[in-house]
Amino acid sequence: MTVGFSGDVAEYYAKFRRGYPPQALDALQTAFALTTDDIVLDLGCGTGQLAVPLASRVGSVIGMDPEPDMLRLARDTAARHDVRNATWVLGADTDVPALGELMGQRSPAMAVIGQALHWMHHGEQCPSAS
Ligand SMILES: C[S@@+](CC[C@H](N)C(=O)[O-])C[C@H]1O[C@@H](n2cnc3c(N)ncnc32)[C@H](O)[C@@H]1O
Repeated sequence: MTVGFSGDVAEYYAKFRRGYPPQALDALQTAFALTTDDIVLDLGCGTGQLAVPLASRVGSVIGMDPEPDMLRLARDTAARHDVRNATWVLGADTDVPALGELMGQRSPAMAVIGQALHWMHHGEQCPSAS
Protein backbone atom coordinates (compact mmCIF):
# COMPACT_ATOMS: atom_id res chain seq x y z
CA MET A 1 0.00 0.00 0.00
CA THR A 2 1.17 3.55 -0.69
CA VAL A 3 0.51 6.40 1.68
CA GLY A 4 -2.18 8.71 0.38
CA PHE A 5 -3.85 6.73 -2.42
CA SER A 6 -6.04 4.25 -0.59
CA GLY A 7 -9.72 4.31 0.41
CA ASP A 8 -11.70 7.45 -0.35
CA VAL A 9 -8.80 9.00 -2.25
CA ALA A 10 -8.87 6.15 -4.74
CA GLU A 11 -12.68 6.35 -4.99
CA TYR A 12 -12.60 10.10 -5.63
CA TYR A 13 -9.76 9.65 -8.04
CA ALA A 14 -11.74 7.17 -10.11
CA LYS A 15 -14.82 9.36 -10.03
CA PHE A 16 -13.47 12.83 -10.61
CA ARG A 17 -10.03 12.73 -12.16
CA ARG A 18 -10.12 13.87 -15.77
CA GLY A 19 -8.93 11.48 -18.42
CA TYR A 20 -6.26 12.35 -20.96
CA PRO A 21 -7.39 13.95 -24.23
CA PRO A 22 -7.48 11.66 -27.28
CA GLN A 23 -4.89 13.93 -28.92
CA ALA A 24 -2.37 12.94 -26.24
CA LEU A 25 -3.02 9.27 -26.96
CA ASP A 26 -2.76 9.94 -30.72
CA ALA A 27 0.61 11.64 -30.14
CA LEU A 28 1.91 8.67 -28.13
CA GLN A 29 0.67 6.19 -30.70
CA THR A 30 2.40 8.09 -33.51
CA ALA A 31 5.64 8.77 -31.63
CA PHE A 32 6.06 5.12 -30.62
CA ALA A 33 4.52 3.70 -33.82
CA LEU A 34 2.27 1.54 -31.66
CA THR A 35 0.46 -1.39 -33.22
CA THR A 36 -1.90 -4.08 -32.00
CA ASP A 37 1.15 -6.36 -31.58
CA ASP A 38 2.60 -4.17 -28.88
CA ILE A 39 2.62 -4.39 -25.10
CA VAL A 40 2.53 -1.13 -23.18
CA LEU A 41 3.36 -0.58 -19.51
CA ASP A 42 1.50 2.09 -17.54
CA LEU A 43 3.54 2.47 -14.36
CA GLY A 44 1.70 4.17 -11.50
CA CYS A 45 -1.49 3.56 -13.48
CA GLY A 46 -3.79 4.69 -10.68
CA THR A 47 -7.41 4.07 -11.61
CA GLY A 48 -6.58 3.54 -15.27
CA GLN A 49 -6.95 6.99 -16.86
CA LEU A 50 -4.19 6.18 -19.36
CA ALA A 51 -4.14 2.39 -19.38
CA VAL A 52 -7.82 1.90 -20.20
CA PRO A 53 -8.01 4.12 -23.32
CA LEU A 54 -4.58 2.91 -24.47
CA ALA A 55 -5.80 -0.68 -24.47
CA SER A 56 -7.83 -0.32 -27.67
CA ARG A 57 -4.73 0.92 -29.52
CA VAL A 58 -2.29 -1.87 -28.66
CA GLY A 59 -2.10 -5.62 -28.15
CA SER A 60 -2.12 -5.46 -24.39
CA VAL A 61 -1.56 -3.11 -21.50
CA ILE A 62 0.07 -3.79 -18.16
CA GLY A 63 -1.24 -1.42 -15.52
CA MET A 64 1.10 -1.47 -12.52
CA ASP A 65 0.55 0.36 -9.25
CA PRO A 66 1.52 -0.27 -5.60
CA GLU A 67 -1.90 0.76 -4.26
CA PRO A 68 -4.45 -2.07 -4.27
CA ASP A 69 -7.46 0.27 -4.12
CA MET A 70 -6.29 2.17 -7.20
CA LEU A 71 -5.67 -1.06 -9.03
CA ARG A 72 -9.07 -2.51 -8.09
CA LEU A 73 -10.82 0.58 -9.45
CA ALA A 74 -8.73 0.48 -12.63
CA ARG A 75 -9.85 -3.10 -13.11
CA ASP A 76 -13.51 -2.10 -12.54
CA THR A 77 -13.22 0.72 -15.09
CA ALA A 78 -11.68 -1.64 -17.62
CA ALA A 79 -14.51 -4.13 -17.07
CA ARG A 80 -17.12 -1.39 -17.56
CA HIS A 81 -15.47 -0.49 -20.88
CA ASP A 82 -15.23 -4.15 -21.86
CA VAL A 83 -11.44 -3.93 -21.98
CA ARG A 84 -10.10 -7.47 -21.97
CA ASN A 85 -6.44 -6.95 -22.86
CA ALA A 86 -5.29 -5.22 -19.68
CA THR A 87 -3.41 -6.95 -16.86
CA TRP A 88 -3.33 -5.28 -13.46
CA VAL A 89 -0.14 -5.82 -11.48
CA LEU A 90 0.42 -4.79 -7.88
CA GLY A 91 3.89 -3.29 -7.84
CA ALA A 92 6.01 -0.17 -7.69
CA ASP A 93 8.76 1.24 -9.88
CA THR A 94 11.27 -0.90 -7.98
CA ASP A 95 9.43 -4.02 -9.24
CA VAL A 96 9.93 -3.19 -12.91
CA PRO A 97 13.16 -5.24 -13.24
CA ALA A 98 11.29 -8.32 -11.95
CA LEU A 99 8.51 -7.63 -14.46
CA GLY A 100 11.17 -7.60 -17.18
CA GLU A 101 12.30 -11.06 -16.04
CA LEU A 102 8.70 -12.29 -16.27
CA MET A 103 8.27 -10.97 -19.78
CA GLY A 104 11.26 -12.93 -21.07
CA GLN A 105 12.05 -12.07 -24.69
CA ARG A 106 9.30 -9.48 -24.94
CA SER A 107 9.61 -5.97 -23.71
CA PRO A 108 7.11 -3.13 -23.64
CA ALA A 109 7.01 -1.00 -26.78
CA MET A 110 6.35 1.97 -24.52
CA ALA A 111 6.19 2.75 -20.82
CA VAL A 112 4.07 5.65 -19.66
CA ILE A 113 4.06 7.31 -16.25
CA GLY A 114 1.18 9.75 -15.87
CA GLN A 115 1.51 12.21 -13.01
CA ALA A 116 3.35 9.63 -10.92
CA LEU A 117 7.07 10.06 -11.57
CA HIS A 118 7.48 12.25 -8.49
CA TRP A 119 6.30 9.35 -6.29
CA MET A 120 8.99 7.00 -7.49
CA HIS A 121 12.28 6.06 -5.93
CA HIS A 122 14.74 7.79 -8.22
CA GLY A 123 17.72 7.28 -5.93
CA GLU A 124 17.34 3.52 -5.56
CA GLN A 125 19.46 1.26 -7.66
CA CYS A 126 17.69 -1.61 -9.40
CA PRO A 127 19.11 -4.92 -8.11
CA SER A 128 19.83 -6.10 -11.67
CA ALA A 129 21.74 -2.90 -12.48
CA SER A 130 24.43 -3.35 -9.84
C1 LIG B 1 -1.40 11.04 -9.06
S1 LIG B 1 -1.67 9.29 -9.30
C2 LIG B 1 -1.61 9.16 -11.10
C3 LIG B 1 -2.39 7.99 -11.62
C4 LIG B 1 -2.47 7.86 -13.15
N1 LIG B 1 -1.18 7.56 -13.72
C5 LIG B 1 -3.06 9.07 -13.80
O1 LIG B 1 -2.42 9.69 -14.63
O2 LIG B 1 -4.22 9.40 -13.50
C6 LIG B 1 -0.11 8.63 -8.77
C7 LIG B 1 -0.07 7.11 -8.74
O3 LIG B 1 1.27 6.70 -8.53
C8 LIG B 1 1.25 5.56 -7.70
N2 LIG B 1 2.56 5.38 -7.07
C9 LIG B 1 2.99 5.90 -5.88
N3 LIG B 1 4.25 5.51 -5.65
C10 LIG B 1 4.62 4.73 -6.70
C11 LIG B 1 5.80 4.00 -7.01
N4 LIG B 1 6.87 4.01 -6.19
N5 LIG B 1 5.85 3.28 -8.14
C12 LIG B 1 4.78 3.27 -8.99
N6 LIG B 1 3.62 3.94 -8.74
C13 LIG B 1 3.55 4.67 -7.61
C14 LIG B 1 0.11 5.81 -6.72
O4 LIG B 1 -0.36 4.65 -6.07
C15 LIG B 1 -0.91 6.49 -7.63
O5 LIG B 1 -1.82 5.56 -8.15
